[in-house]
Amino acid sequence: MNAHPRVAELDVHLTPDDLAAALRSDARAGLTATPKALPPKYFYDARGSELFEQITALPEYFPTRTERALLEGSVDRIAEASGADTIVELGSGSSAKTRLLLDAFLRAGTLRRYVPQDVSAAALRGALDALGAEYPDLELHGVVGDFTRDLGFLPRGGRRLLAFLGGTIGNLRPAERAAFLAHVRSVLEPGEQLLLGTGLVIDEEPLVAAYDDAAGVTAEFNRNVLHVLNRELGADFEPDSFAHVALWDAENEWIEMRLRAGRATRVRVAELDLEVDFAEGEEMRTEISAKFRPAGVRAMLGEAGFDLVRWWADDDRRFALSLATAV
Ligand code: SAH
Ligand code: TRP
Repeated sequence: MNAHPRVAELDVHLTPDDLAAALRSDARAGLTATPKALPPKYFYDARGSELFEQITALPEYFPTRTERALLEGSVDRIAEASGADTIVELGSGSSAKTRLLLDAFLRAGTLRRYVPQDVSAAALRGALDALGAEYPDLELHGVVGDFTRDLGFLPRGGRRLLAFLGGTIGNLRPAERAAFLAHVRSVLEPGEQLLLGTGLVIDEEPLVAAYDDAAGVTAEFNRNVLHVLNRELGADFEPDSFAHVALWDAENEWIEMRLRAGRATRVRVAELDLEVDFAEGEEMRTEISAKFRPAGVRAMLGEAGFDLVRWWADDDRRFALSLATAV
């Protein structure tokens, strides 16, 4: 036994200054576009990450508990088949469900290292602190970064499993998603694996409820991006005057989240030297969460150079886990 827990390393590929610079250009582009839109990665400051954790426990938000159950039923088989010594995870957040994977790979005796990556430094630090205490013999190497830009951080050598859970792939638009998967494939060696969680297309009602809960936590999460703009860019949004909107786009098969201005308002964004007018009822797009069909998952993996080797879905076909091999 190792009496001295290892101190987790943390590589910062995205400093607060980098993130602030990206926010400035994305906010300027998005607030002056028609319709207005903001990219989703800015939801996840410390408060946003905490609100997301609350979302995962909501009665309406089934993806997390469904994916957890799928992992419970599959991790030992994944670990046996994989033989990976390194688990890399993109958008790892609190790494809550990942513990199931870590435990199974430790039982299989192959795991040496866990490399969680997230845009939220706060979430990552919290996860690493807890994991360091729980897994004193595991090498922990956190990376603060943007998975749509920097995958160059991935440790080389050994045998790696790359996990991308939570249905987060659905938060990318189709073109971004294809580019992202191709990029993921390009940093893996043939034979290395991808474990992907995807929400599936189901009836509209439970799907919309998952993104518009009765307690209003998702609404608070959505509005949090306005608090981020106020704090980081000196904007004067009144977040409470914006309503949370979640709707099912049947053509694109995605949930779309928006913020709707309750009244006509002029917002000043001091650091951008920008004034933005919202008409009463005007909606700004803040997030999509695409849902998939089994054939679509297989096709998207195939196009990126992965072979789907195993597929797990719950009885209600609400969520799926795919294990794919880089070809
Ligand atoms: N994997 C966790 C968290 C999912 S929520 C789960 O399954 O519960 C999405 C996570 O992705 C958040 O932790 C968020 O901070 C992170 N994230 C969002 N956009 C990102 C980006 N562009 N690069 C890296 N991480 C990102
Ligand atoms: N990856 C999560 C999902 O698409 C993120 C998420 C959950 C989310 N609830 C949200 C994003 C509400 C924006 C608003 O399921």
